[in-house]
Amino acid sequence: MIIAVDGPTASGKGTIAKALGRHFRLPHLDTGLLYRAVGYQVKLNGGDPSDPDEAQGATNFPDELLGHPELRSEETGGLASRVSVHPAVRKALFERQRAFAKQEGGAVLDGRDIGTVIAPDADVKLFVTASVEARAQRRWKEMQERGESHTLLEIEDDLRRRDERDTNRKNAPLVAAEDAVLLDTSDLDREQAITKAIEIVNQATGQQPCP
Ligand code: DC
Repeated sequence: MIIAVDGPTASGKGTIAKALGRHFRLPHLDTGLLYRAVGYQVKLNGGDPSDPDEAQGATNFPDELLGHPELRSEETGGLASRVSVHPAVRKALFERQRAFAKQEGGAVLDGRDIGTVIAPDADVKLFVTASVEARAQRRWKEMQERGESHTLLEIEDDLRRRDERDTNRKNAPLVAAEDAVLLDTSDLDREQAITKAIEIVNQATGQQPCP
């Protein structure tokens, strides 16, 4: 079974995808991490993420980079969003994601274009959304815990900028697949969102809920 989970930054899609992987015993790939690694590699190379050639050159980042803590930072998220607009970058990362999706036994992948480009044949497609305010609040809490200081307004502005870039890019924009089920997590806590996502998968695949 392939489960595709798409949605904007801080919608809860990563948490949901990870939990679905655990629940249905499927391997999980956070595809945003690949774009973050490219963005961070451009920075290490002293390059410009807006330059298509420099961004493409960074797609051969070493695998160890995927474990680097800086990949999770807001700054790297911004770099990832900028390199992800280049078709050559998306093409370079396509096979890796496709092979993960097609592995025997199935997989869960989360990102922006899983249900539309990487795995249009997925058995279940979830599109996870939440209001900018709810997402900013979550990001703010996470950042406070990490000791990073940003105001809610700064975070909201950054999310809006990233949504705008991810949604309006020509190549594989952030958009719900026609057959995706929408899950709005604005008013749900973590456990409620996970429970709802499991229900959606069970319904879509006709499975009995696990005890
Ligand atoms: O999910 P995330 O915040 O880690 O993603 C970082 C950026 O990577 C996001 O702003 C857009 C890009 N991305 C993408 O274009 N396609 C994906 N499948 C995953 C992420």
